[in-house]
Order: sequence, then structure tokens, then C-alpha cells
Amino acid sequence: MKLYDKAAQAAEYIRARANINDVTCGVILGTGLSGLREMIEQPIVIAYDDIPYMPSSTVESHAGQLIIGTLHGVRVAAFAGRFHYYEGYSEEEITFGVRVLGLLGAEALFVGSAVGGLQGEQSAGDIALIRDHINLLPINPLRGENDERFGPRFPDMMKSYDELFRQAAHDIAQEENIKLHNAVYVATQGPSLETPAEYQYMNRIGGDVVGMSTVPEVIAARHQGIRVCVLGVISNVCFPLDRLTKTTIEEVLKTVEEAAPKMQLLVSRLIQTTKLFF
Ligand code: HPA
Repeated sequence: MKLYDKAAQAAEYIRARANINDVTCGVILGTGLSGLREMIEQPIVIAYDDIPYMPSSTVESHAGQLIIGTLHGVRVAAFAGRFHYYEGYSEEEITFGVRVLGLLGAEALFVGSAVGGLQGEQSAGDIALIRDHINLLPINPLRGENDERFGPRFPDMMKSYDELFRQAAHDIAQEENIKLHNAVYVATQGPSLETPAEYQYMNRIGGDVVGMSTVPEVIAARHQGIRVCVLGVISNVCFPLDRLTKTTIEEVLKTVEEAAPKMQLLVSRLIQTTKLFF
């Protein structure tokens, strides 16, 4: 069965379970953004395992759920639990949720994730607003036969990170006194972290932050014409190399936990702005 038909079945299932026609925006509740699910009103929680063709989530604790509800009166579909290349998932599995979102009518996608900082002026706990990316993953979710029902064979990637949302993010950050760095996201395979030479290389090729996710979802979303906004919590500083220290998962999680309220506030207020755009 074609991917489009699988995604259409999944979308039909979600429509029936949540008793909705469409959603306005999707959210991928990545690292730093998981608390946003508590803000969703009248939530209907659907296990990934119940959704036809949705891969099941293996790693994260409370992961593997789709939450449908409203935030500031905007209909949202939020994914708790995502799929990474380093876990062994295929391009189709990594981006299946985004494909379904498109078929549910989503106009915008918000993504949160943890990133390593590749620029000297960044500090751990700062927030990066992604303005562009460099894909160093050995995959592209659009590889293979193109299905025109999703989008064109060669989608343009010039303005992938929506300018209106970025402007709105800067306005909100200023009002809320949150420091926001504009950043180019370098996508890397993981799961091992980078060597010092690799961090230096990523800085030299124009990267401002590095992470192990996000880019496949962004490419699939843009293929379907969904507007994208990505925020990253800088969980560890990787450049210049004399600031590089051993990265421990405990340290990363602590930094992310402290910065999470800023991410949640930014994304929840950004979702509110979608009322102005659509
Ligand atoms: N490298 C890759 N991915 C990451 C990092 C890093 O240093 N920090 C958070 N995600």
C-alpha cells in the first residue's frame, strides 16, 4: 500500500476517535517541550499503537501518544514521542506523523528539541530559533517515487522556516525577556556525540546548533506545504573547543528542564498567533 493511503487511513482513524474534521497546527513535543501537553484543553489522548500504520515508540517513558485538543482556542495535534534515525527507524517511519498531520489539514508545525551550541556567544539553557538547516543525515524522506498528492518532486527549500513565525517569536521573546538566538541547525546521525573535530567542522560549514532529529520532519512538512517553526534548547555548549566539556545525559536533562518553561511559553504564544495568520 502506498504511504499516502496509509497516512489517509491513519487520519481517518484520528478524525473518528477525536470527533474532529481538521486540526490547525501540529506540535512535536520534543525535548524541552513535553510539558506543553499539560496546557492542551479538552485533550483526547490516542496511543500510537491504536493508529493504523503509526510506528510504535520504544525509548521515551511517557511517549507514544497523540494528544488532540485546543490551545488558546486553536485546534492542535501534539505528538508525545518521536522517531529518530539513530533508533533505526526508516525515513517513512520518522515522518509518518507529519504525513498524517498534513492530511488532517494542519497549516503549521511547531517542533521543539535539544541541541548542542556551535557558536561562542551561546550559553547552556539559551533558546535557539532555527532559521535554516544543513542536512548531514544520510537520508532524505522524499527519496524514492514521489506521490504528487503530498507535494512536488523537487520541493523548494528556500523559506522552510516560516518568516512570519520567526518574527512573531522574536516579538514574543522580547516581551517575555527571553534571549533568542537565530540559528542554522545541522542534523547529524548520532547516537554518539560529536568529536571536537566534528564540532569544529560543523561550525565552519555554517552551523550554529547541532541535533539528531527535526530535519526529516521539516522536509516532509515543507513537501506538504505546512509552515514550520522550530525551537531548540541549547543543552550543551560545544564551541569554541576550549569550552567543550564531557557531556553527560544528567547534565543535559537538568539544563533542558530549567529552560523548558521558556520553550513552552514561546510555543504556546506562537500557537496563539496562528489565529492571526490563518
Ligand atoms: N550533538 C548532537 N545532538 C545534540 C547535542 C550534541 O552535542 N546536544 C543535544 N543534541
